[in-house]
Amino acid sequence: MTTETRLRIAMQKSGRLSDDTQALLKRCGLTINVADRRLLAHVANMPIDIMRVRSSDIPGLVMDGVCDLGIVGDNTLEEASLKRKLMGDKFEYVKTTPLNFGGCRLSIAMPEEFNYSSVDDLNGLRFATTYPQLLKRWADEKGINVEFCLLKGSVEVAPRVGLADGICDLVSTGATLEANGLVEVEEVFRSKASLIQTASPLTAEKQAILDTLLPRIMGVMKAKE
Ligand code: PRP
Ligand code: MG
Repeated sequence: MTTETRLRIAMQKSGRLSDDTQALLKRCGLTINVADRRLLAHVANMPIDIMRVRSSDIPGLVMDGVCDLGIVGDNTLEEASLKRKLMGDKFEYVKTTPLNFGGCRLSIAMPEEFNYSSVDDLNGLRFATTYPQLLKRWADEKGINVEFCLLKGSVEVAPRVGLADGICDLVSTGATLEANGLVEVEEVFRSKASLIQTASPLTAEKQAILDTLLPRIMGVMKAKE
């Protein structure tokens, strides 16, 4: 639990969401120097600290109350939530607001030469993925069995090297699939970035900071529409 009076926000250090997250916070008027190597950045003009971490660590940090807020992709959030539930760990959080960036989809893709006609063609196959829980939930809904092997990145390489029959990974422009001879066949989950907060109520001081910050976030998003 954070005992400080400064609001602690977790954001992705580098990756798909980091530039947009940083731009959002900046447009909200937060003065942050994230150019340096400090992973806990003090906001100079507001009682806020920004913790820069791996995106997959953000849900847990918020669910455990280490950070009050987090900006994270729904894909990462939902995967972590399902996994923690399974493991008997705390998985509750509050979605403070959806954000209007970081749009992508988690999809199944198969090698170009695979003759795909329906979901049943995927039954019993093995998929490389960073999102086994989302894949399993989707497969259960569809009534098929799938196997998976866990890769944290460069997932698209797996079929080519014989590690898996297909992949279940994020698609944004589709360029990575194309470059690796893969074709998207099914959408498993649609994702955007979200602002989430810890499930237990914030202290009055922290709530007051959030009450100042949230309308600014809404304003920035409205201006971008
Ligand atoms: C992400 C994701 C896909 C790719 C999708 O990978 O895992 O591979 O981007 O984007 P696209 O459809 O626009 O090509 P990233 O580049 O972040 O690398 P990593 O998977 O190795 O972490
Ligand atoms: Mg990738």
